[in-house]
This record gives sequence, structure tokens and C-alpha cells, in this order.
Amino acid sequence: MNEHDSENIGGMLEDMGYENCDDKDNANIVILNTCSIREHADERFYGKLGQLKKKRLGDPNYVVAVCGCMMQQEHIVKNMKKKFPWVDIIFGTHNIEEFPRLLQTCMEKRSKVKEILSDRDLVPERLPSSRLYKYKSFVNITYGCNNFCTYCIVPYTRGREKSRSIDSVISEVKFLVADGVKEITYLGQNVNSFEDPDGRDFTDLIYETNKIEGLERIRFMTSHPKDLSDRLIKAYADCDKLCNYIHLPVQSGSTEVLKRMNRKYDRDRYLGIVRKIKEMVPDITISTDIIVGFPGETEENFSDTLDMIKEVKYDSAFTFLYSIRKGTPAGEYDDQIPEKIKHERFDRLLNDINKITADKNREYVGRIEKVLVEGISKNNKSKLVGRTEGFKLVSFFGEANLIGEIISVRIINANTFSLEGEML
Ligand code: 5AD
Ligand code: SF4
Repeated sequence: MNEHDSENIGGMLEDMGYENCDDKDNANIVILNTCSIREHADERFYGKLGQLKKKRLGDPNYVVAVCGCMMQQEHIVKNMKKKFPWVDIIFGTHNIEEFPRLLQTCMEKRSKVKEILSDRDLVPERLPSSRLYKYKSFVNITYGCNNFCTYCIVPYTRGREKSRSIDSVISEVKFLVADGVKEITYLGQNVNSFEDPDGRDFTDLIYETNKIEGLERIRFMTSHPKDLSDRLIKAYADCDKLCNYIHLPVQSGSTEVLKRMNRKYDRDRYLGIVRKIKEMVPDITISTDIIVGFPGETEENFSDTLDMIKEVKYDSAFTFLYSIRKGTPAGEYDDQIPEKIKHERFDRLLNDINKITADKNREYVGRIEKVLVEGISKNNKSKLVGRTEGFKLVSFFGEANLIGEIISVRIINANTFSLEGEML
């Protein structure tokens, strides 16, 4: 979500005549878009901001702006004003479309500008975007979250959930397709609770999107298991453009922990959903998010998570050490897990997951996969990289003119986090 906000801010700056510049020392404006999901993200922000101080104080024409989820928290903004008074512009997540006006005010009046809204009534439609990729694009469909998982800061920084209208989303996708986009990823904290002002739901949006000529692939994230409908599962069978891939965060394999996380599903219900999806779409790939060391997590609870990953056999899993977030209910729980135990469990989980994902990747050797070519490999300049329909990263030898094409690749080797192939 933050990455897409940055694309939008970049798009607005391009509309104002600015150009992207990779080197922050040669830039006129530096914008730090912050994330607050875990403490580590906060720490990185303060480190980066500190690096800008000398340049800002020595150059009156240099503008430093900060925005994003951290700025939606009062205690952080207070601290910012005390420790980093030289920052020029502070804005939040609810008014990114106002950035050009804030920048203009700052430049014309040479004054500090701060504008943070607590929430918003209307969602922004069709912001300009400086896309990271020419051939694939994010498209926001909902903003905010109403779920209040007890560990999570997002409902406090992104506000209440609001959906766009299907017509407006579809017209944006058509515009993107006309601009060369082949793959779109619908974004929302919980896409399954999308509801258009006319009462149409997320599955309706998928069926509508599947009709768009020229579009090749549809993805979405994130899906909350509690709201995943049988109709959506059926859409995988009906919609040829919907990629056979789902990111379905489980967070924990323990019913007890899930209850304390306020996830509103239990272990059996989650496994039931996975079973249904696999029955309907046998070659689906599944990824997940897992939090280790949630307050009160016992060794037995943790072993339920280890069992869970063996049962589901995830294609990939993003694993996180539980991080206390100020203002969330779990941050106040008094049965926090000692760091040493958290790390020890995290290592065991990672070890098991890596074995499972490596095994799953090995099943691909010999298969022919359709790959959307995304760019040149960072590790080997004569190789290209792309993603399969199931979101697996594949590298193979090929010419740069194939970037943006969907091509057939035979998988010849499997690693834990990627595949190697040869073009057909
Ligand atoms: N600590 C650790 N991980 C967290 N996540 C969200 N909040 C926290 C937290 N306080 C993880 C969840 C979520 C992902 C985006 O980040 O797994 O799905
Ligand atoms: Fe956070 Fe839960 Fe909302 Fe996801 S669904 S953004 S984890 S509160």
C-alpha cells in the first residue's frame, strides 16, 4: 500500500514537472514515505532522516518531506517536531493527493507545512502514478481497515474501510491496459470486504475485470480468511485471467492465539478454506503471513503453527517477529514473550518453511510455465526474470526486448526462493 502511495506521489511530482533522481544528494526534494507495521520500519526511518539533516541545514533550497503511516500517530509527530524541526513538510495517509498544494505552499512561503487528517470521507480516484513497472500495476480498491486485529496498527493509521465504485476501478484498469499494462494487482487491507456503493462485491469486480480485453492477469492482496467467499473460490475456475495464486495470511496455527489476535476464524475454518481452494484449483499456489511470539504464545501454540505449515504446504511464507505497536491492544498485554524465545521460535519456523518451499519448488522442474517477463536479473545481466502465474520468480537467459511479454519457459532447476528456466 505504501509502495503504491509512493508511485502516486511520484506521479504527482512528474505532473508538476519534476523528474525522478536516484541520488538523494543531487535531489531538490526528498520525500520519506514511512511504514509503521513493525518497529524495525520505524527505526529505519529515523536512520534515513538523520542522514538528511546536514544537507538540509546547509541548503535552503532543499526540501525534506515526510509522510505515511508513522505521521498518523500523534506521539511520533510530537517527537518529530522536537527532534527534527528542520523537516519542511509533514503529511499523512489520508491526504496524499494534497501533496502538490503543500509543496507549493512550502516553496512559495518558505515555511514549514504540516497537514494531517484523522480520516477521510471520500476516497481519491485515479491519482497520477509513476509506476515501478511498465507492464504491471497496483490498483487500490479499498482504503483503511475495520478489523482491528489486536497486534496491528493499520486501522489507526489508515482509518475506516472505504471502497471505490466498480465502474471507477474498471475505467482505471482500462486506462492502464491502454497504457501497456498486462497485469493488475487489486490492493486493499481486506479485499474480500470490498463493497461498491451499488452493493456489488469483490467477486463481482473480478468477473467484470475478467472481461477487459487486452488485460492478461488479475491478482489481489490481501485476502482476510474470514471474508473469503465460496463465490470467489469459484471465480478462479470461471475467470481465465485470475491468476492461480492466493496470499492468505494465517498469522498463527493456534486457535487460542487466533482468538487473542481477534482474527475471527479458527484453525479448522482456515484449513477448510484451503481445502476448498485446492479442490477447486488444484494447481493453486498459496502464500501467507505468520507472526511469531504473539503475547502469551506457548510452546504448544507455536507447535500448532509448525503443524499448520506442514499441512497447508505453503509455496512461500512471510514470517515476522511480533513487534509491540503503541496504541494497539496486544501492546498492552502483560504476557509478552522474551526476545530470546521469539528468535528461537522464528529460526525453527524459518527452517521448516524453507524446506517446504524448496520441496514445492522442486515439483516445478520439468514443467512449462507462462512467465510475464519483468526485467533483467540483478545477479546476472544476461538473464531475465519474471513471474509465473503462481507468482514464482523465474530466471532464464534471454534478450531485453522480451520485457513485458508473456512467454513459455521450461523449468530446469529449483532453488528455495526462485526457479531457473529456459525459454521455449
Ligand atoms: N508485529 C509483527 N508482525 C505484524 N504484522 C502486522 N502487525 C504486526 C506486528 N505488530 C504482520 C502481519 C501482517 C503483515 C503485513 O505484517 O503478519 O499480515
Ligand atoms: Fe491489520 Fe488485521 Fe486489518 Fe490486516 S486485517 S490490516 S492485520 S487489522
